[in-house]
Formats: sequence, structure tokens, C-alpha cells
Amino acid sequence: MRLFIAINFSPEMRGHLLSLQSELRRHAVRGRFTPPENLHLTLAFLGECSEKEAQTAAGVMDGLAFGSFPVSVGRVGRFRRDKGDLWWAGLDESRALLHLQEELSLKLKNAGFTLEDRKFKPHITLARDVVTDGPPWTLQPFEEDVCAIDLMRSEQIAGRLTYTSIHQTRGACGEPA
Ligand code: 2AM
Repeated sequence: MRLFIAINFSPEMRGHLLSLQSELRRHAVRGRFTPPENLHLTLAFLGECSEKEAQTAAGVMDGLAFGSFPVSVGRVGRFRRDKGDLWWAGLDESRALLHLQEELSLKLKNAGFTLEDRKFKPHITLARDVVTDGPPWTLQPFEEDVCAIDLMRSEQIAGRLTYTSIHQTRGACGEPA
């Protein structure tokens, strides 16, 4: 199974992200837009994993120490791609977020996972293969407090890219509301 570890968002946060997507859609000639339920922030991409590796990853997640921290979206930008760009909502610098991602990566590597060595650029993919002459833009930042990370399985179900949380680790932030 194909796995990654991510932060998922509340319906309110998804609503904000969807408005950014609509704005982008208005200026795009074409693009494959992320369905609302698939909007997320990836902390680590694990790729193809066995059942045992999934359990190991869940154990690593449970061994992290973190509390609630704010995640703030402040801009929209793109990664250039030949067949159309990947457009994202960008996260503002947050020490707590960067620290959590570093700790997670380190512990995953120590547990035997091979991770890509490229620098972490915290982003929420809004759309892929986008062709537009609209420029990236900044916005009135919006944020929410995050208190959990999820181990996500990625698969095609009936032709749709489907993400399912198969394990969740909550930080020390009290009970879910
Ligand atoms: P992306 O949105 O920038 O493509 C599931 O594919 C998640 O894992 C996505 O958030 C994706 O980021 C991320 N990811 C990171 N590295 C990846 C890789 N090598 N292949 C596919 N997805 C990757």
C-alpha cells in the first residue's frame, strides 16, 4: 500500500482552501483540481509499504511528543512542471510545524524508512497540471490549530484517487471537540 503522513483540516479550513481553488480555477485554462476531501498537508511521503512497515510508521508517530500548534496559510504559489504547474496554498513559517516534520523524518529514517532528501516545503496542493497566466498571490492569512497527524493510504477506487486515514496520532491537546 502507498502511504504518507499528513495533517488533515477542519471543514472551515477546507472552505477557505476551496475559495483559493475557485479563484485559481477562474484564471486557469486547464488543471486537475484536488477534491475537497483530499486537501491535506504532507509531512512525510513513505511510498509503497508492507503491513509491517505501516505498523512501524504508526509506532513512530505515536512516539512523537507534540502539542497543539497553529498552521497558517498566507499565499498561493506554484511549482513549475512541464505538463502544467502544481499550484499550492503555502504555509507560513512555523517553528512547531518544522520541528514536528524534522522529528518525524528523523525517527522514520531511524526506523528504516528511506525518505526523499529534498527540503521540506510545507504546501497544500490545490491543483495539478495547471495552465494559467495568472500570477501567484498573497492573501489575508487564515489559520487553525492542529493537534493530530494521520497515516494516510493512497489508492485508486473506482477511478478516483482516494485517501484514507489508517492511523491517527493526537498530540497532547486534550480530547477531540
Ligand atoms: P504533492 O501534493 O506536492 O504532490 C500524496 O501523494 C502526498 O504525498 C501528496 O501530498 C504529495 O505531494 C506527497 N508526496 C511527496 N513526495 C511524493 C512522491 N515522491 N510521490 C508522490 N507523492 C509525493
